[in-house]
Amino acid sequence: MNTVKVQHVSVTATGYKELEVCRGESSVCSGFQQFTKTRPDRTPSRSVVHGSPLHLRAVTAHVRTLGMIPAVIDEPTSSADGVKAEMSAYYDGLASNSAVARSLESGEDPEAVAASEPARRYFQMRKMREARRLGGFQSAQRLVEVGCATGQYTIRLSTEMGFRMTGVDISPRSIEIARELAASLSLGDEITYLQGDFERLECLDDDSHDGLVSFSCIRYVPDPLAALGQARRVVKPGGRVVVDFPNRFCPWFKYLKTRFGVNVHFEDRHFSAHEVRDMFTEAGLESVRFSKLLFTPTITPPPLLPAFKLLDLVGERTPGLKETAAIIMCSGQVPRN
Ligand SMILES: C[S@@+](CC[C@H](N)C(=O)[O-])C[C@H]1O[C@@H](n2cnc3c(N)ncnc32)[C@H](O)[C@@H]1O
Repeated sequence: MNTVKVQHVSVTATGYKELEVCRGESSVCSGFQQFTKTRPDRTPSRSVVHGSPLHLRAVTAHVRTLGMIPAVIDEPTSSADGVKAEMSAYYDGLASNSAVARSLESGEDPEAVAASEPARRYFQMRKMREARRLGGFQSAQRLVEVGCATGQYTIRLSTEMGFRMTGVDISPRSIEIARELAASLSLGDEITYLQGDFERLECLDDDSHDGLVSFSCIRYVPDPLAALGQARRVVKPGGRVVVDFPNRFCPWFKYLKTRFGVNVHFEDRHFSAHEVRDMFTEAGLESVRFSKLLFTPTITPPPLLPAFKLLDLVGERTPGLKETAAIIMCSGQVPRN
């Protein structure tokens, strides 16, 4: 019998439960499908499975039929604060070793670094343009970006789209590097960077911004509903909160990522459009609208990029296919009263 544990982790704010399925500690993957693909003789796995209580009962039953489950342990793994401390330390390390940090040290042009990864740049620009569209944002408005890391999006939102930007991230080292990068581009007075936790946003006053954007961040936040509540607090009435989520039904996250040797992030979660809409509504955000975009992975080799752009163009407009796009981007309005 393999030593697999299924551990009840938490009931999320939306009433969905999370189970953690562990076998060994050496890899992390997520999702029911991925778990079922895991062959007992091959991959040590520690998989976070999300879903409704019914879905999770089915997962548990399935795991049992594989003869892999010695115990169901009903105790939490790590506290939310523990997860956030780990997250902050992890991103401190990534920031210190990032291409941006190296370019600041060597004096190399950060633009040249960005240009060397055209798929990533395309991916980021698509997300920013979609956020601007879904948020109905106008240039010169004051926006906050949460989960800004070393500031790649924040800088473009400022220089290419004309927003007055504040960037917030839980990782102090990321914020330090973001400030250095902005100063090196003579944007030190244009962009404010603050260290802060999405679930608290103590660094921001009530109603202080016209809108909030966040890319690839809330998936790592233990309590996304608390984060959306904070987003609602710091955005003025009538302003919009635009946040993106990895789509649970995208095959890249479910099957392909590990095949292509891309490490799966710890504490990562994937969402359905239904869950996202429920969370926005529960956070008191109104006129919720969302879109599904991008089939192009950020690691796409440059010669394949035109083909993937075509796939995005067609896939995002094709009923059925668009349900499997990588990103669900959601926008909700802060009530006016
Ligand atoms: C995958 S990176 C995304 C960076 C950038 N937004 C992008 O899309 O490329 C996730 C970022 O979210 C930040 N983060 C994670 N949890 C956070 C939290 N609770 N509050 C604020 N930032 C957080 C991390 O430090 C990291 O910089």
